[in-house]
Amino acid sequence: MENLTMGSNTCLVGLQWGDEGKGKIVDILTESFDIIVRYQGGSNAGHTVIVNNEKFVLHLIPSGILRKNKYCIIGSGVALDPLQLLEEIAELRKKNIEVGDNLRISEIAHLVFPYHKKLDELSESEKGDEKIGTTRRGIGPCYTDKMARTGIRVADLYHPEHFKQRLKKIVEEKNRIFVRLYNADALSWEDIYDTYCAYAEQIKPYVCNTVVFMDDAIKAKKKVLFEGAQGSLLDVDFGTYPFITSSSVTAGGAAVGTGICPKQIHKVLGVMKSYTTRVGSGPFPSELNDELGEYLRKKGGEYGATTGRPRRCGWFDAVAVKHAIMVNGVDGAVLTKLDVLDEQKTIKICVGYKFADKVYDLFPTDLAARPDCQPVYKEVPGWQKDTSKMRDIRDIPSQAKSYINTLEKILGIRVEMLSVGPDRGQIVNLL
Ligand code: GDP
Ligand code: IMO
Ligand code: MG
Repeated sequence: MENLTMGSNTCLVGLQWGDEGKGKIVDILTESFDIIVRYQGGSNAGHTVIVNNEKFVLHLIPSGILRKNKYCIIGSGVALDPLQLLEEIAELRKKNIEVGDNLRISEIAHLVFPYHKKLDELSESEKGDEKIGTTRRGIGPCYTDKMARTGIRVADLYHPEHFKQRLKKIVEEKNRIFVRLYNADALSWEDIYDTYCAYAEQIKPYVCNTVVFMDDAIKAKKKVLFEGAQGSLLDVDFGTYPFITSSSVTAGGAAVGTGICPKQIHKVLGVMKSYTTRVGSGPFPSELNDELGEYLRKKGGEYGATTGRPRRCGWFDAVAVKHAIMVNGVDGAVLTKLDVLDEQKTIKICVGYKFADKVYDLFPTDLAARPDCQPVYKEVPGWQKDTSKMRDIRDIPSQAKSYINTLEKILGIRVEMLSVGPDRGQIVNLL
């Protein structure tokens, strides 16, 4: 896959609402890189990699961890849940994956605390029908604290008195919200303090100044792969607000979430699924609430890698993906899960949104406020052949080629790689 990355630092981003198959693609690209870094999100992510029928689901640790002699970094922009991290490390070690000197955690990453998860839970329950459908991993509340300057960072754990005073104050404040606003139980700051002091010892070997580590590595001409989590349409600014996550998912977030100069990101690679899925609430114009939607869910195994929730399924939405390509400056794309469409007689691509009598091909910024949006489709013939065993560009059925070319034309980008199954080996290089 060397020609796909052309010796450049590359940022890989999801171009839909997440779960595009980023984990699998990062695992493949890792071979050509030295350092793989997560720059945003937290354990709300679920990145699946399947190697020889063995399944790995990464939530916090970069998907590059499965390859030997690579550094994996959890950057400063990540919301770090130490409990989740320790569980993930244990799980990987059980499967004989080395986690040691190859893992580095930013000392300025913000920590997720039990009160963040509790707030996530309570706030979602309170919203009823208007809930976002979060993963309840405390992500929104953790980033809220970061911006409100009431967060606690990894490095704080190693100043016990400072940490204790800060935690006590913050928990007392959160408890007022739990008790008075939600009529819920208070949390004990002492318990949290003891637990997090124990975590601090366990994660200490990995903690470092990752900004300096990466700067040194880049100066030494090491190659960096930035692993985006979630999808661009869940971005806090450019997604379908307020049905989004709380971080900067897009390529710009990679600089902010690692401390690396934007000029050091040489290529942006977008991952898109051959159809669309979404977990949680929010607008989804090309959603299929019918048997076909159910079929795609079953055939594509569309159940959340983090929460197990069934994913909503629909046709490929080119209006939304075009928007994602623009806000990321995507240079090339990877098209995943083509095999899931193998049996379709015809395939639809959403090329416009209709409001009243007008059709737009620009993604509206206020989609969440416009439930009257109707998808406008272009229909193309299906190939009705098994593509899962394809490994060579010459094996691609002509109708599948035509589907890919149609997408390339509408989107104005080149599809550089095709994924035709969940396994590491199920890819076709189109370059
Ligand atoms: P991520 O969050 O973007 O890494 O994606 P997820 O891992 O949450 O979801 C993608 C799912 O599709 C996982 O179950 C993968 O194993 C699976 N997958 C990835 N690529 C392909 C593909 O080309 N075909 C099929 N059938 N499954 C795939
Ligand atoms: P990966 O990296 C799909 C969705 C949630 C919810 C919204 C906000 O595996 O693609 P949050 O817990 O972040 O506050 O939830 O964002 N969401 C994802 N959907 N894939 C993900 O990650 C997601 N991470 C968050 O379902 O709608
Ligand atoms: Mg996922």
